[in-house]
Amino acid sequence: MSIVIGKLAVKNPVFLAPMSGVTDEAFRLAAHQTGAGLVVSEMVASEELVRERRDMVRRARCGHRLSPFVMQLAGREARWMAEGARVAQDLGADIIDINMGCPARQVTGGLSGSALMRNLDHAITLVEATVNAARVPVTLKMRLGWDERSLNAPELAKRAEAAGVAMITVHGRTRCQFYTGKADWAAIRAVRDQIKIPLVANGDCASADDAKAMMLASGANAVMIGRGAYGRPWWPAVVAEQLNVGSGRKQPSLAEELAIVLQQNDETLRLYGGALGNKTFRKHLGWGIARLYERDLISAEQTMAARAGLLGQTNNDIVRQGLREIYDMASDRMGLAA
Ligand SMILES: Cc1cc2nc3c(=O)[nH]c(=O)nc-3n(C[C@H](O)[C@H](O)[C@H](O)COP(=O)(O)O)c2cc1C
Repeated sequence: MSIVIGKLAVKNPVFLAPMSGVTDEAFRLAAHQTGAGLVVSEMVASEELVRERRDMVRRARCGHRLSPFVMQLAGREARWMAEGARVAQDLGADIIDINMGCPARQVTGGLSGSALMRNLDHAITLVEATVNAARVPVTLKMRLGWDERSLNAPELAKRAEAAGVAMITVHGRTRCQFYTGKADWAAIRAVRDQIKIPLVANGDCASADDAKAMMLASGANAVMIGRGAYGRPWWPAVVAEQLNVGSGRKQPSLAEELAIVLQQNDETLRLYGGALGNKTFRKHLGWGIARLYERDLISAEQTMAARAGLLGQTNNDIVRQGLREIYDMASDRMGLAA
């Protein structure tokens, strides 16, 4: 069954989760171009966006190459959410997602993110303000509740649907769990029972088997992958293909992977400028190397040497050359195994 958000149909049910500091435009572009069902921007603080704070404006860029472009807004006051929604639309957002899931203390301390789940009347004023200000569909991402004594995601979801929200995503943990324990996929079903709009389940999905189990347990229409896409922006598309042949793409060959990673490197430098771009790319490089090791495509020694040689490297040409060499080593090992 295809998923429709407002009037926008998405191509498959495996989405890339918003992750601040990870899913920047360069990463999302790679995920989108390889075939993720939907990709969501990093959280953009609405007041800072309206005030044109530089890093927020960068987070809000889409370069018109991402369609649909989903911008996630965070905030604690209705008026800034409304203003932020207008700016997001002007910047080309096709969908606005509201963040009520972020557990970080600097966010909840500011009474936004998952702290909004402590006061649903207030949370709904933000939803209403955003929906009223926006011409585009508004979606909402939340956790199960603040803590295990207040699992109010079903109530928030129901009220949000009544206020005009077009899709709900639930991360199967409470705020107080942060990222500990295991996401409770079955607990998300209580939200399914309250809403008719599309529901997306999130938390600890790393494979097609996980995605199937998650959808079965929760009754969700789609899944959202976060950390499982570290170092492999093509992964949501691969999971989509394994779930439903023809809707995503097959695991890229090593040569294709290298091309995707080199393009991500290019885009990262374009987005942030040379020095900051190089620094920002390092974490992706570290994860990418770890993925090759995890797949037994490079040895422990090669992994250590690549990390030592590349993760502190400020010359991007050397980083790119190093990437080619790592992928050559991986191809050799794959050839030997064949
Ligand atoms: C580094 C990092 C940054 C995150 N930033 C955001 C964010 O900006 N907005 C948001 O709604 N969730 C954010 N999240 C939460 C993820 O979207 C997701 O809900 C969570 O990681 C669980 O999914 P996973 O187990 O697939 O990673 C972040 C998570 C991580 C690990």
